[in-house]
Amino acid sequence: MLLFLRMVVCLGILIAGKFSLKLQYNGDQVLHIVPETLQQVQHLQHLHSTLLLDLWKPLLPEDIQAGEDLHIRVPASLVQEVKDSLDQHTISYKILIHDVQELVDQSAPKDTSSRNQIPENYNYTQYHPMEEIYTWMAQIQKSNSELVTQHYLGETVENRTIYYLQISQPSDRTKKIIWMDCGIHAREWISPAFCQWFVKEILQNYESDPKIRKFLQNLDLYILPVLNIDGYIYSWETARLWRKNRSPHLNGTCYGTDLNRNFNSSWGTLGVSYNCSSEIFCGTGPESEPETRAVVQLIERKKSDILCYLTIHSYGQYILTPYGSTTEPPSNNEELMHVAQTAAAALREKYGTSYEVGSTSLILYSNSGSSRDWAHMIGIPFSYTFELRDKGTYGFILPADQIQPTCEETMLAVTTIIEYVDQKYFPGGAMMLTSANLGLSLCLTVVLTVIVP
Ligand code: ARG
Ligand code: ZN
Repeated sequence: MLLFLRMVVCLGILIAGKFSLKLQYNGDQVLHIVPETLQQVQHLQHLHSTLLLDLWKPLLPEDIQAGEDLHIRVPASLVQEVKDSLDQHTISYKILIHDVQELVDQSAPKDTSSRNQIPENYNYTQYHPMEEIYTWMAQIQKSNSELVTQHYLGETVENRTIYYLQISQPSDRTKKIIWMDCGIHAREWISPAFCQWFVKEILQNYESDPKIRKFLQNLDLYILPVLNIDGYIYSWETARLWRKNRSPHLNGTCYGTDLNRNFNSSWGTLGVSYNCSSEIFCGTGPESEPETRAVVQLIERKKSDILCYLTIHSYGQYILTPYGSTTEPPSNNEELMHVAQTAAAALREKYGTSYEVGSTSLILYSNSGSSRDWAHMIGIPFSYTFELRDKGTYGFILPADQIQPTCEETMLAVTTIIEYVDQKYFPGGAMMLTSANLGLSLCLTVVLTVIVP
């Protein structure tokens, strides 16, 4: 009888295992704490390191500071222990997320296998698994073949192909490039959702919207919807809160490099970890990851034509300028700040969402090896990181019903930046008479009437 029971249980586990290998976050909570004293900071650092909690903000325990927000995910089994310990140390806390799994279940549609998503009725207000994004890319190119080409960028650690989309209007002028990448960090699902939204908006509106029409005359848009494809798939299939790529280390005992610490800009010097089990492991060297190298190769090849490098993340509502690892501002810092502030103002107009603007080392926390700093370092004049919604209410698990408002408002910020860059490098356009060329044509008229009376 006992044996029979055991067999049934084993079988049950096997079947459950086959259908759900997903990491569950049932009862996990995200707490919001603002430590007030140095002792409290130290206690939080101690809790974090002894219980191996998942720090969401800041990402590094060293960056925990008195008076600053802290968001931390506590596994269900430790929730009571952590709360008791906080009470003992008179550290007050609020519960940001009562049950992580509940939110996870809400943002991921249950069954995606039967969804038929052709571009005309592709649902941009849902999160999409990678196969759907692959199909979407191919179909977007097919149904907009005069404007869109899908290009090979490289391969991931697990040998998946990385593509980007080029949107360019046929023209014999020499054009410049705007680059935008999404999905560097796996769990930041709103980021790929925005890249897809952006492509849709441009394609839907370029004929009717004079602003888009204008900048498309001078600028080609290169959009990379998901860079960290392996990580993205892993966050769908196995662990919703996965962040890094999937490179194996130490004989497969730990996985993943933080791609946004892996670029060759002061690599490995600040706000990183050399421990491969850390969320901010910077890799075994600069550009150690194939995903990083894929981006670097293309950008290096095109860098003299790229005017603007945008990289989309979440969360926190920031537009970040270079530099992340020093406080030394870039030479065009004033202009970078001005443009970002204008973009943030445009974004705010839509739904009142407020964004903070500045260099990450000043307004968030320092890090080295980010793609934004690298792009700036190799000479791309405008380089920004967007940290999209929200400010921590849902954090990395932003519900799908916020995709639309988030994308709409972000669209305004991004087009503000593109328009500025367009006007700066292609001033006037063909039709405009500036006072300088008005003067010139008057002179010419005078000269011509004198010579040819
Ligand atoms: N996308 C950023 C990263 O993972 C998020 C950092 C800022 N926000 C935060 N909640 N930690 O590096
Ligand atoms: Zn990120």
